[in-house]
Amino acid sequence: MTKRSPPPMAPYLMALVLFITISSAVAAATGYKNHTVGGTSGWFFNSTTNTPATNYSSWASTQIFNLGDYLIFNTNSNQSVILTYNNTAYLNCTADDSDNGTFIYSSGTDRFNQALTIPVPLTIVGPNYFFSDTSDGVQCQHGLAFEIQVQRGIGLPPSLNQPPPPPYNEPPGPDNAQSPTVTVADIPKNGALSKSADVRVVVYGLGAVMVLLQFW
Ligand SMILES: *[C@@H]1O[C@H](CO)[C@@H](O)[C@H](O)[C@H]1NC(C)=O
Ligand SMILES: *[C@@H]1O[C@H](CO)[C@@H](O)[C@H](O)[C@H]1NC(C)=O
Ligand SMILES: *[C@@H]1O[C@H](CO)[C@@H](O)[C@H](O)[C@H]1NC(C)=O
Ligand SMILES: *[C@@H]1O[C@H](CO)[C@@H](O)[C@H](O)[C@H]1NC(C)=O
Ligand SMILES: *[C@@H]1O[C@H](CO)[C@@H](O)[C@H](O)[C@H]1NC(C)=O
Ligand SMILES: *[C@@H]1O[C@H](CO)[C@@H](O)[C@H](O)[C@H]1NC(C)=O
Ligand SMILES: *[C@@H]1O[C@H](CO)[C@@H](O)[C@H](O)[C@H]1NC(C)=O
Repeated sequence: MTKRSPPPMAPYLMALVLFITISSAVAAATGYKNHTVGGTSGWFFNSTTNTPATNYSSWASTQIFNLGDYLIFNTNSNQSVILTYNNTAYLNCTADDSDNGTFIYSSGTDRFNQALTIPVPLTIVGPNYFFSDTSDGVQCQHGLAFEIQVQRGIGLPPSLNQPPPPPYNEPPGPDNAQSPTVTVADIPKNGALSKSADVRVVVYGLGAVMVLLQFW
């Protein structure tokens, strides 16, 4: 019996299989996750009924949070997003301008109903608290607030190892008590960087496949 030579398609199939394998290995190695806060409910509060759109503590208990993950707040300008590492501020529902452990992700708009997507990277291990300080804390007091425990996971990606918001030391002066406000427009830069890094790894992976094929 004569041995059939493999059809000419085989190398391409091999390349495809290898490419898929390497791509998924890259995805697994990247390992960072984006958590959409509240799932399909988003980050909303009904000011007529004084109820949050969902139970955010319940939602948080279904997730595992690691350094380098993002929380994605799908919301509008009727709510705010405050990140704090200060348990007192969280329990009291107050965002203290002068507290360096509290970060205000502002929309930069003073109009209601402006649709917003606010990505917040997780950069510190341990308890991270989130709430909305809109309506003098009423939203927060009625459940637009939650606590998460951030684990180390695989550690911060290079794009985030300078934790945003960037360190900024206000020079001493009469304006000292200013808010550490973070404008939403600043945030995606880091994500864009990490995305181009991923693409580069995939391209190198494909290069490796090509080199392998030469010696097949
Ligand atoms: C708030 O809840 C009331 C009563 O359930 C409902 O009629 C209203 O549409 C809700 N408002 C928003 C903005 O979802
Ligand atoms: C939200 O869910 C948590 C458990 O995940 C529960 O302890 C809490 O009472 C719930 N809150 C409301 C307002 O139902
Ligand atoms: C946003 O707030 C305004 C003013 O309180 C209100 O009229 C509007 O219904 C709110 N929108 C939503 C989606 O809650
Ligand atoms: C935490 O927040 C409280 C209330 O806003 C403030 O008095 C306190 O100084 C803050 N603690 C730290 C360590 O910043
Ligand atoms: C707690 O919140 C109230 C307003 O809701 C504010 O007057 C008070 O200063 C806050 N306390 C601290 C320790 O931040
Ligand atoms: C806030 O500042 C204090 C002292 O200036 C420092 O010990 C602490 O680590 C800072 N906290 C954060 C979250 O940057
Ligand atoms: C996660 O969100 C960040 C910030 O918006 C974005 O740059 C990144 O591409 C997202 N990653 C994934 C896997 O969706």
